[in-house]
Amino acid sequence: MAGKAKKQLRVGVAGLGVASSQVLPAFRPGAPYLLAGGADTSAEARKGFTDRYGRPAYASVRELCARDDVDAVWISTPNTLHMEHTITAARAGKHVICEKPMAVTLQQCDRMIRACEDAGVHYLQGHSKIYQAPMKAIRKVIKSGRLGRVVQIHAANFNDWLQRPRLAPELDTTKGGGIVYRQGPHIIDIVRFIGGGMVDNVRGVSGRADRHFDTEGHFSALLEFDNGATATVTFNGYGYFDVTELTWGIGESGRVQTGARSFPRADKPRLTGPANPARKRAVAQDRGDHGAGAAAKDERHQPFFGLSVVFCEKGVIRQAPDGIYVYTQKGREEISLNEGHGRSQELQELVDAIARKRPAFPDGHWGKATLEVCLAIMQSGRDGKVRRLKHQVPAP
Ligand SMILES: NC(=O)c1ccc[n+]([C@@H]2O[C@H](COP(=O)([O-])OP(=O)(O)OC[C@H]3O[C@@H](n4cnc5c(N)ncnc54)[C@H](O)[C@@H]3O)[C@@H](O)[C@H]2O)c1
Repeated sequence: MAGKAKKQLRVGVAGLGVASSQVLPAFRPGAPYLLAGGADTSAEARKGFTDRYGRPAYASVRELCARDDVDAVWISTPNTLHMEHTITAARAGKHVICEKPMAVTLQQCDRMIRACEDAGVHYLQGHSKIYQAPMKAIRKVIKSGRLGRVVQIHAANFNDWLQRPRLAPELDTTKGGGIVYRQGPHIIDIVRFIGGGMVDNVRGVSGRADRHFDTEGHFSALLEFDNGATATVTFNGYGYFDVTELTWGIGESGRVQTGARSFPRADKPRLTGPANPARKRAVAQDRGDHGAGAAAKDERHQPFFGLSVVFCEKGVIRQAPDGIYVYTQKGREEISLNEGHGRSQELQELVDAIARKRPAFPDGHWGKATLEVCLAIMQSGRDGKVRRLKHQVPAP
């Protein structure tokens, strides 16, 4: 009907902790999606959500999914619950965006994929750095063919992942904790996206170098793609050095990291064990305030997830503060980017995929393939063997 407003996608957020505090600022007036409600087992988290966003919060994901006024669910509950909550949402006919890692095992991924396919709903592997404009721009230059094929990718990140307040399960590898499960998907998504997606084999080493934490705090890996490209991936999360020193000070949010986020700090004692839920919730509150208060676009650069440098046959590509640099025989060219930040891209992708009746990207098969690489890094570190991969899918 002429003049009729388009129906917005009504999204519920399951799990109202730290991850949700990065998702919720994406719900802005005028967007083609809206915040329908939330779900959390914690009464305190539910109250905080309803007070702040004025939307109802339910005590279980099942209740949220039973609502007729919810079309899709963003799952940001702990890793061990991603499968259960994806299946619950799919069976209730809701589209799913699920946080990384997709799940803890490949078998769980299969069940999630099947549940969504059986229900005819979309599954989007959410919160991926490949939505960010610099990654899309790097891929575009590669696809143009002007630099020839990709030869090597170097991706590194150094941060304080293990020095942030974490609940006990987040520090338990058997529950999907530790840095390989939690941060591996980001850096692996980046190199798979740039390298074409199809990793042939992996040799990795992960380790536990902080005696206070019995989970991975670092890893290194060499990935070989079926097209001959290689990727070296390094992550260190012990908090003695921050990669933003190498990226013009710019971090994951696109903001220059100053003051509180720079470390190590003499006045801040190192953490030596898990946090209690109240302390973890304070992080969500803090991040929520930061996200809401500092949204002005002109204060922000493009987001950096560490340092990624891509060597091609005829040139090199890396991120610049506000775009990407392309280095060729002719010199350095800058491609400026002015796209949005945050989780709006994922939501936009889901809206678009539903409207055009096409699969969303990255889908469950992509999420499973990225998890396969993360698991291979840990397995290869245990037995010293190169792992050949079986579940890889190409980048579109
Ligand atoms: N911490 C981060 O910076 C971050 C960022 C992005 C994504 N993630 C991902 O998001 C997920 C959650 O991580 P987090 O750091 O936000 O954890 P969190 O502990 O801060 O939040 C999880 C929330 O889920 C709730 N919850 C637990 N069991 C539930 C259940 N059965 N039903 C409903 N709610 C339940 C908890 O009460 C809590 O509020 C993980 O998959 C993680 O990998 C985390």
